[in-house]
Amino acid sequence: MSAPRVVVLGRIPQPGMDRLAETSAEVWAWDSDEPIPDAERDAQLATATTAVTLLTNRVDAAFLDAAPNLRHVANVAVGYNNIDVPACTARGVTVTNTPGVLTDATADIAMGLILMVTRRLAEGERLIRSGEPWKWSMFMMLGSGIQGRTLGIVGMGAIGEALAQRAKAFGMDIAYHNRRPVAPDVEQRLGATWMGLDELFAASDVVSINCPYTDDTHHLVDARAFGLMKPSAYLINTARGPIVDEAALVDALEAGRLAGAGLDVFEHEPQVHPGLIPRDDVVLIPHLGSATEETRGAMAKLAADNVAAILEGAAPLTPVHVV
Ligand code: DGY
Repeated sequence: MSAPRVVVLGRIPQPGMDRLAETSAEVWAWDSDEPIPDAERDAQLATATTAVTLLTNRVDAAFLDAAPNLRHVANVAVGYNNIDVPACTARGVTVTNTPGVLTDATADIAMGLILMVTRRLAEGERLIRSGEPWKWSMFMMLGSGIQGRTLGIVGMGAIGEALAQRAKAFGMDIAYHNRRPVAPDVEQRLGATWMGLDELFAASDVVSINCPYTDDTHHLVDARAFGLMKPSAYLINTARGPIVDEAALVDALEAGRLAGAGLDVFEHEPQVHPGLIPRDDVVLIPHLGSATEETRGAMAKLAADNVAAILEGAAPLTPVHVV
């Protein structure tokens, strides 16, 4: 058995580092917000038993080849599309993520984007900052009210449910699509109705993407989906960029087939499709879903709790896959 050695491959908040320091392992951390160079990463992985990763660290065959003693990858994110889980499993590497602790923060951002795009908040803010003269008028910058409108949630997991709860409080009707309907008491509490995906696209005034990114959800929202949506509808994405075909989104907006979009994530992050940048009907924010002091601290702490549990021979708290 190799001595436990934890390598932290991106800078994480102090609660995570403090928790790792309490373990029996030697801990090494890449202490920069710049990505770790591959050569440095591989040098550290050579003797690592645990890797703590961010969503910007790709865990693939090359990563695993560099890490012969690796037993655990602790991702500091709920999404784990940066990790080749079957490859980890094949090599006896357990993968954990950080669900739960970022539910409220991400649902807040989704609700915020709904309000921003329907009420033209970013556009109004830009107008004031531009120094352009303006004066109140009855018809200035009219947006679209959300009360009595239908929010269609694609992916009714914890974040989808938390968004539904918020949107219901704002007077929206909730439709959702999941592979399987949620429990009847949850549907009842949220006043939520299950719909097939096409039906949801057609019925919704706002479509919010809250599902994980997998092979099955790549470009789930494509030209066909935009063809089904109402021209007055808005699209919100706080999940992962490649779930939406960004070129098709730009085409739909340009053709007046969609009223607007609020995006926290991008298909080729951090690049943003150039067709989105000049548009006033689009709100663009830089992957801020979980970006609060409290939430990022809790994510780092949960990842470190998983590391500690596995080092102590206990079951991980939030496994994606245990080997
Ligand atoms: C996650 O945890 O997957 C988020 O996207 C990070 O903010």
